[in-house]
Amino acid sequence: MTTIIENSKPSLYERQPEISTRFPVHQVREDFPILSSEVRGRKLVYLDNAATTQKPQSVIQAVTRYYKGENANIHRGVHYLSEQATQKYENARRKVGAFIGATVNCEVIFTRGTTESINLVAQSYGRAFVREGDEIIISALEHHSNIVPWQMLCQEKGAILRIIPLLENGELDLGVFDKLLSSKTKVVAVTQLSNVLGTLVPVRQICKKARDAGAVSLVDGAQSTPHLSVDMQQIGADFFAFSGHKLYGPTGIGVLYGRAELLERMPPYQGGGDMIRSVSFEHTEYADLPGKFEAGTPNIAGAIGLGAAIDYLQSLGMERIAAYEAELDGYTRSRLQEVEGLQIQGNPEEHRGAVSFTLDGVHPHDIGQLLDQEGIAIRAGHHCAQPLMKCLGVPATARLSAGLYNTREEIDMLASSLQGLRTLFHP
Ligand code: ALA
Repeated sequence: MTTIIENSKPSLYERQPEISTRFPVHQVREDFPILSSEVRGRKLVYLDNAATTQKPQSVIQAVTRYYKGENANIHRGVHYLSEQATQKYENARRKVGAFIGATVNCEVIFTRGTTESINLVAQSYGRAFVREGDEIIISALEHHSNIVPWQMLCQEKGAILRIIPLLENGELDLGVFDKLLSSKTKVVAVTQLSNVLGTLVPVRQICKKARDAGAVSLVDGAQSTPHLSVDMQQIGADFFAFSGHKLYGPTGIGVLYGRAELLERMPPYQGGGDMIRSVSFEHTEYADLPGKFEAGTPNIAGAIGLGAAIDYLQSLGMERIAAYEAELDGYTRSRLQEVEGLQIQGNPEEHRGAVSFTLDGVHPHDIGQLLDQEGIAIRAGHHCAQPLMKCLGVPATARLSAGLYNTREEIDMLASSLQGLRTLFHP
């Protein structure tokens, strides 16, 4: 069971100066057309950013421009449009590489998203290098996409899945991790930021320990990349996965970063066009990286849109975004604690993004639906983390997740709506 925060503390953030004087949040909001819409007759308050983020005008324009005037298939055309599209697609790869601190651009593999990136590693690296009796370590905080691919691999190979448990406060028990690590460990796969509790996981330390034990490490960066500056050299992961749509980019595009030396040794994940050097009925020679892992026509517009999203984030500055969001996160937790009967799940020391809560006597789905009537979008349910729900001892939670365009005013509206709900159910 995780610690439940009591709601009696005063708001620490009440009298602090408005953060938006330092981060131009109101100006930033104007870059996102959808944020000025109304839903159910109310101004939209979008607080479901862990599920997907809204898109700035520059990303929408980049995708539209591509389809309006630049559309062609890549890598194999001899004509002008194909050359242009190829250049833009590869330029997006360079932007991603620089954004995450890859050593070389061929370490950036475009996928459909985090889920496909993790499946790629489980199916390619896992099938080639994991044997019967080997062990794979994941954590209690994982999203289904960092559980199921490893379970499938374990079933196929007769390998064993080990779980780093949770501490009372929603952090991982790293003492147990140390004990789980052994010469049998082949893969350690953990999230950098929990999509449920907002726990920031010390992935650098985990990756180093994995490497010292002779295992490879994979970090699920789906939730962390929108909130923090990530640097592959600093984290030291062998693999790192993230999604475009959670990073203010399009859906259907994502990234697998892998250390080149490992990717070179891995077999292809899928076969088809563009991943080959030569094919005969007897034998196929595979293409060099990154082509070997990008069979078929990729999501060209998606990659270009992701490049535009990265440009956008860099124009604001990831450090500034992180500082703004850290303060907003503190304000959010503080405001929620003031709502009578509200319990925040977990109390990790380092947290960001998602905040999960329950409200006495109100089912999380009712919270979600009733807030929706006020134009407030949050998520309710198990958040694709059923094993974590079991650890927490709850069937579901309500979850808000803020992004770079959310404001204290929106958090105030949420808090006051929740207080209203509580009164409605407990008059
Ligand atoms: N993984 C997404 C979430 O947590 C869908 O909402």
